[in-house]
Amino acid sequence: MQLRPFKLERYFAKYEFNTQYLLCSSDCEAMSVADLLSLEEGAAEKFQGVWLGYTESQGSPALRKEISKIYETIQPEEILVHTGAEEAIFLFMHAALKAEDHIIVHTPCYQSLTDVAKSIGCDVSRWQAREENSWVLDLSELRKLLQPNTKAIIVNTPHNPTGYLMPRADYDALHNFVQENNLLLFSDEVYRESEYDPATCLPAACDMGDHAVSLGVTSKTYGLAGLRIGWIATKNKKIYESMASIKDYTTICNSAPSEFLAEVAMRNRGKLVERNLGIIKANLTIMDEFFARHSSLFTWVRPQAGSMAFPKFLEGNIEEFCDTLVRQAGVLLLPGTMYDDTGNHFRLGLGRKNLPQAVERLEEYLKA
Ligand SMILES: Cc1ncc(COP(=O)(O)O)c(C=O)c1O
Repeated sequence: MQLRPFKLERYFAKYEFNTQYLLCSSDCEAMSVADLLSLEEGAAEKFQGVWLGYTESQGSPALRKEISKIYETIQPEEILVHTGAEEAIFLFMHAALKAEDHIIVHTPCYQSLTDVAKSIGCDVSRWQAREENSWVLDLSELRKLLQPNTKAIIVNTPHNPTGYLMPRADYDALHNFVQENNLLLFSDEVYRESEYDPATCLPAACDMGDHAVSLGVTSKTYGLAGLRIGWIATKNKKIYESMASIKDYTTICNSAPSEFLAEVAMRNRGKLVERNLGIIKANLTIMDEFFARHSSLFTWVRPQAGSMAFPKFLEGNIEEFCDTLVRQAGVLLLPGTMYDDTGNHFRLGLGRKNLPQAVERLEEYLKA
């Protein structure tokens, strides 16, 4: 297994903990353990009693019950809890694919969605979202990418990094295509429930049939990345069992304190979503004004969901711009090249409370 370095994660490793303003984070503002526990009467006392033994490999029954409430038809036994969404991506690819299988992946994307499959020896085709098309995925292009050895399609909506949300009609057509061709759909839904208009929230893929696996996590919409709790939800017993079996070789089970805290979080996810969407929407207003003031330097396709956008830098080279910005002003933006993007885009994070100060610093830098 040959895995190339994870470009985006390496970039963050270099800057995340020594830069004043992170203006490109994908997660929403986090909170302390005390603040999370205060969401629920009696939770702080119960937390003291959490038993620090091994937990059930598929995730604690209480946590799986809370997670299953996100879905329409999914039962707790159809949820498999992991250490972050990242572990679930790794296990899905290993459970579903073998060398020389072909997969089609929505790109640009979070690198593990292509690279774990490549490391297994799979052939990966990019289903490319394009800015000139407002990052919309074109279903006619998908049809052309199908091969006799295609096993799975991987999509991510709401999308990292563009904030694209697939329209319902396209989503239904995608599911039909997957079913007609006897494929699997791996649906990365880690930004689900962060749609700016709740009416546009798509049904979870796992609720559409056993051809699909939905991926969720506490890190993004709910702002609790430090819990490292992710999950898959699926009616596909074969995939579920194979992922559970490989998990015995990665983490065996999850962290007991994190499972308890994630259970509290999921029970109160409405409050977390309200808080985090409030931050995102206030930040969007600031960014609308910023881009209006700097239209000769930047263009953007305004996102429809999630905590990110993928604007374009119109002057100069984006890697150089980000590099000087972080060194001279202490503001971190993520060059699109970390996604193998060649269009001079950068990732902008919208989920952090200090975005107004970060943007102020960015503007001082632009004026200087
Ligand atoms: C689309 C997508 N999937 C999966 C992950 C992994 O999530 P986690 O870091 O919580 O494991 C990320 C993280 O940025 C992501 O953006």
